[in-house]
Amino acid sequence: MNSSERLQAVKGMNDLLPPASAKWAHVERRAREVFEAHGYREIRTPIVEYTPLFVRSIGEATDVVEKEMYTFADRDQRSLTLRPEATAGVVRAYLEHSLPMKEPVTRWWCAGPMFRHERAQKGRYRQFYQMDVEAFGVAEPTIDAEQIALLHELFSGLGIAGIDTVVNSVGGPEDRPRYRDALLAWFQPRAAELCEDCRRRLTTNPLRILDCKQDADKAVVREAPSVLEHLGDPARAHFAGVQAALDALGVPYRVDPRLVRGLDYYTGTTFEVRGTGGELGTQNALGGGGRYDQLVAEMGGPPTPAIGFAFGVERVIMALPGADEDFEAAPDVFLAAHGEAARLACLRLARTLRAAGLRVDLEHRTTSIKAQLKRADRSRARAVAILGEAELAAETAQLKDLSSGEQRAVPQAELAAAVRGMAAAPSRRHGRAEPEV
Ligand code: HAM
Repeated sequence: MNSSERLQAVKGMNDLLPPASAKWAHVERRAREVFEAHGYREIRTPIVEYTPLFVRSIGEATDVVEKEMYTFADRDQRSLTLRPEATAGVVRAYLEHSLPMKEPVTRWWCAGPMFRHERAQKGRYRQFYQMDVEAFGVAEPTIDAEQIALLHELFSGLGIAGIDTVVNSVGGPEDRPRYRDALLAWFQPRAAELCEDCRRRLTTNPLRILDCKQDADKAVVREAPSVLEHLGDPARAHFAGVQAALDALGVPYRVDPRLVRGLDYYTGTTFEVRGTGGELGTQNALGGGGRYDQLVAEMGGPPTPAIGFAFGVERVIMALPGADEDFEAAPDVFLAAHGEAARLACLRLARTLRAAGLRVDLEHRTTSIKAQLKRADRSRARAVAILGEAELAAETAQLKDLSSGEQRAVPQAELAAAVRGMAAAPSRRHGRAEPEV
C-alpha cells in the first residue's frame, strides 16, 4: 500500500462504535431472550463454507449466487465463499452432526455477519448482521405461525411502529411445474418488456422474474399469474392452517401472492416483516423466511420439513426509535481521588464495588478534583464518591448524588448499599425500562 493512501474499511462494510453498539447489544439481547423463550438453542457455524454448499442450496439462478458471493480459492485451491446467509451452513451442520437421528425436532438460532456483494446503499451493505432461527422436523402449520408471531412480537416489543407482516405460499415441488407453466405462458409473449436478466430467467427459473429488482414495478410482472391460484390441495390446506393459527394468535398480517423471496430453497409458506418508518426507505424488509421442506433431502439427508427466518440487525436498528445514548448504561458511581494515597484506595474500592455488582468508573490520570468531577458529570454517573485524606483516615467517602446535588459522608463499607439505594434520576438515562415482549 502506498503510504499516502488512506486506510479505510472495505466499501459496504461498516465499523460499529459506541454509543451505537449499545443499541445493537440491546436488540441482540432481546432477540436472544425471545428466541430462547420459544425453545431455540444457539448454534455457531463458520463464516466460510465450501462454495458448492451455497450454489446447491440457495440456487444457481439467484442473484445471490450469480452476482453477490465473495468467492475465493484458499491455499489448497479449494473454492470457499463467505456466507451470504446462514441457512445453508446450519443445514450442513444439522446433517454433519447427525441431528436427524439424534433429535427429531431441532430448533436452533444463530447470529453473525453475512456477506453479499450488493450495490451498497442505506440499509443494504456488503457485510451485514443477521439473527437467524431454524426449526427442523415439524411439518405442521402452527410452527409457521409461531415463527411469524415471534418475529412480529419481537419487533413490536422493541418499540418498532408500523410493522407490516406479509405472508404467502409459494407451493411445494408438486405445484411448481404447474405454476412455472403458467408463468411461462404469461411472460414468453411479453419477453420484450423484461430486462435482460429476466429474459434469461425464462429458461433458468421463471419464478425469479417476480423478484427482479429492475422489473418489479412493471405491469408485466405485477399482473403475472398469482401463485396462490396454482396451489394444489396440500399446499392450500397448509396455508389455510397457517392463517388460522395466526388468527388464533391475533397477529395482524396480510396475504400477498407477490411475495417471492430471493432464495430458491423455499417451499410453501414464505413471509416477510417490513418496517414502514421513514428511516428505512426502500430497504424496508426487516426480516423474512419460510419453509424449505426439500432442502435437507437435497443436501443428502432424510426428508425433513424445516422452516426458518432471519432478520437484518442494521435495518432493525434503523427502525428502532431512541437515540443511541439512551441504550448505554451509565456508571452507578464515579470515584474521585484527592491525592496519591486516595487514588490507590479508589482503585481498591472500585474493585469491591464492582464485585458487589455496581458499574464503577474512576480517573487514572493525575488530574484535579475539579476535572474529575467534570468527568463524572459527563459520564452521566448517578453519583460521585470523593476520597481525600480525611476520608481515608475515617474510612468514609463523600457520596454526592449528581442529580440532586445532595452530599453526605458514608462509611466505605456501606457505599455499595448507599449507591444502590439512590433512586435513578429521571433526568439521567441509566439504560432504559425495556418494554415487555
Ligand atoms: P433474506 O431475506 O435474504 O433471507 O435476508 C433476511 C434479512 O437480512 C432481510 O430481510 C434483511 O433485513 C437482511 N439483509 C439481507 N441482505 C442485506 C444487506 N445486503 N444489507 C443489510 N441487510 C440485509 C435469508 O437470508 C434467509 N437465510 C432467511 C431464512 C432463514 N430463511 C429460512 N431460514
